[in-house]
Amino acid sequence: MTVRPADVNLADPALYADGDPYTTWRALREHAPVSWQQVSGTLGFWSVTRYADVERVLADHASFTSERGTLLSLLGRSDPAARRQMAVTDPPRHDRMRAPLHRALRLRSAEAHAEQIRAGIRDLLPAAPPGGELTFDFAAACAQLPLVVLGPLLGLPVRDRPRLVRLAMMCAAEDDPDHQLPGGRDATLERGHRELFAYFADLVRDRRRHAQGDRPARLGLPDGDHGDLVDVLLTMEVDGARLTPGEVLSNCYSLLLGAGVTLAHVPPAAVFDLCGTGRYADWATRPDLLDSGVEEALRRASPARHFMRYARRPVVLAGVPVAEGDAVVAWLGSANHDEAVFPRPDVFDPGRRRNRHLAFGAGPHYCAGAGIARVTLRLFFAELFARYAEIEVTGAPRRARSTFLSGITHLPVRVRPTQKEVAR
Ligand code: HEM
Repeated sequence: MTVRPADVNLADPALYADGDPYTTWRALREHAPVSWQQVSGTLGFWSVTRYADVERVLADHASFTSERGTLLSLLGRSDPAARRQMAVTDPPRHDRMRAPLHRALRLRSAEAHAEQIRAGIRDLLPAAPPGGELTFDFAAACAQLPLVVLGPLLGLPVRDRPRLVRLAMMCAAEDDPDHQLPGGRDATLERGHRELFAYFADLVRDRRRHAQGDRPARLGLPDGDHGDLVDVLLTMEVDGARLTPGEVLSNCYSLLLGAGVTLAHVPPAAVFDLCGTGRYADWATRPDLLDSGVEEALRRASPARHFMRYARRPVVLAGVPVAEGDAVVAWLGSANHDEAVFPRPDVFDPGRRRNRHLAFGAGPHYCAGAGIARVTLRLFFAELFARYAEIEVTGAPRRARSTFLSGITHLPVRVRPTQKEVAR
């Protein structure tokens, strides 16, 4: 297929649901690696598709700011969370917000909750009958995966998980028919944000009412651990002051969205990739490739399709002048398939070496939950391989209609159990 850069519309969610963004991105990397995309009237953005340029846009905060919004859904509007939420605050204030959270995320890393997470994963994956087979929607089964890990980290009740996943999807995939409300994309975004903020407002109010002292015991955390991430947000200081209630809510929202809509989409992409080519067993039977395979799954899935910045000053990118104030969209999925960096980028190679993918971004905003996401995915795939000897994709996948979220939302599969699973 020949793609003319002039015909490309990367702002159209249909490209990702029904089209082929990989071919489009390849053409752009080759012929127009930094190209202007007109959206409407005076509104538009620069699309950046090569690995080196994507990495620079994300990492070079002196040239590109996050404080005017980082998602295309906010193009042309100001971000009300700017300088209140870590993800949309530039250094140096960003770094002072991030340090305590980052420490807490490491301290309460998924490894500390490994048993709880493993049990949660086992509940997500249905057991196939001994010697028989089972048919189910694999993507739907994975939908709650982020909350299996985020639930304990944020102290969220199990009963709230389905609702939180639904609201997070409304905020991140507002064009997707599974999640869009009858009122359209703006109504979906507005309702998703409003309900999530109201949810966290109640949670934080409730948290304030309880003495901090009994939190570790209630959560079953080890001695010396002073609570969960909400407690960290409530007690941390930035520039000598506690976060305001609005800032606490905004960062809870950011943590939920950061994990809630990304993590779940890595396993379905990997299963579709491997099973579509009959190579599931190539990875499933190689425990030594678990870690490198997870990195490859992240590269291929690139669940966060893009992040946006605005130029703080005139910049030249790949020879193209970008004016001060212009929006610049870094396409992570394209960077992760740049043939200049990844040989045979369209092949899922669980043993791939030097896999320096950008699925978690780059620079000061590099994903704060990357360590947790990695541990969770390793636990997930280990459990998947222990449970199913074979997986066959039995129907067409449905892909999210979204410029931000890259994911399969429905994936019918047929599975057969491993001998180990039958013997359990
Ligand atoms: C496969 C799973 C995940 C992917 C692909 C992913 C991807 C990303 C990316 C690309 C960024 C950079 C955003 C930017 O440059 O503007 C980011 C930031 C962030 N992520 Fe993740 N993420 C994942 C899981 C998680 C999890 C599990 C958490 C929380 C426990 C999380 C919390 C965050 C936060 C708080 C930020 C903002 C960091 C900052 O501004 O310093 N993410 N993520």
